[in-house]
Amino acid sequence: MKRRKFLQNASLSSLGVVASASVIGCKNSTKNKGAYTSGNLAIKPIVIATWETPNATAKAWEVLQNGGTALDAVEQGCMIEEADVKNFSVGKGGLPDRDGNVTLDACIMDKDGNYGAVMYVQNITHVISLARKVMEKTPHVILTGKGAEKFGYEQGFKKENLLTESSKKAWKKWKETSQYKPIINIENHDTIGMLAIDTKGDISGACTTSGLAYKMAGRVGDSPIIGSGLFIDNEIGGATATGMGEEVLKTVGSFLIVELMRQGKTPQEACEEAVRRIVKKSGDRFKDFQVGFIAINKQGETGAYCIHEWFSYTVYKQGENKNYKSSFYNKA
Ligand code: GLY
Repeated sequence: MKRRKFLQNASLSSLGVVASASVIGCKNSTKNKGAYTSGNLAIKPIVIATWETPNATAKAWEVLQNGGTALDAVEQGCMIEEADVKNFSVGKGGLPDRDGNVTLDACIMDKDGNYGAVMYVQNITHVISLARKVMEKTPHVILTGKGAEKFGYEQGFKKENLLTESSKKAWKKWKETSQYKPIINIENHDTIGMLAIDTKGDISGACTTSGLAYKMAGRVGDSPIIGSGLFIDNEIGGATATGMGEEVLKTVGSFLIVELMRQGKTPQEACEEAVRRIVKKSGDRFKDFQVGFIAINKQGETGAYCIHEWFSYTVYKQGENKNYKSSFYNKA
């Protein structure tokens, strides 16, 4: 199976200049020293997403530039990756489970702390929008499997075959040995998590994935679980994760990062602490899996950190859409 393009070019790359952004005075001065601090000014609007996802951040930026909310921006940004059949870890074209079924997980969180998620959904591409419908149209926060799918059709979502010919081919090849050993950064770690601050200064986030390639039927990862794959607190900031969901779940990584920022850490420091905690708890196992986090605080400062090299993230701010290589823990 081909590596995704972002893996071939994880170095810093400029991806275009299309519009202007405002840097607006913020009453809260910050002790943070992240890369994007402008004294005590807050940078907004701003979008940050996992991996090299310039089309997704560009869509989110467009929404924000047109006065849209951060919630609309992260939903529409994530939909770009869900529709991209060349992305083997998100939406249509995602790699299937061991039985050949593509099953999707997603969640979304808004400025008021509302949350909606869907897990183990088949036959619907835009599960991020389905998660939003759960948040806005039901008395619940999570729907799973057939129930989520049924709700989707009631809400007008289209039934689609998500298993593309190339994903089917990759699965058939995998079945020849059926060895379950995810390869770091290659086959299963480009979950898209996206965080945005809109022109009003409000924060929302979204996270969508097909999960680990060749997972057991029924497996759900961190991405749709509040606090693990995603967490937003509009007073503080937000965080989202990519990589081995089982490890993120055990440390409730995104909630941890937001709480560390509440205690005064920069987004960068908070991401580093969350990764160190996962590494510490894993003994030597961390050598075999990747986890990456991104975070943003209320001032628009961003941070990113991962266990192994090659995780990257994309930031659209002040009219520039750029991909950055994340710093990493394992220098061995
Ligand atoms: N982080 C995506 C997953 O483990 O499912």
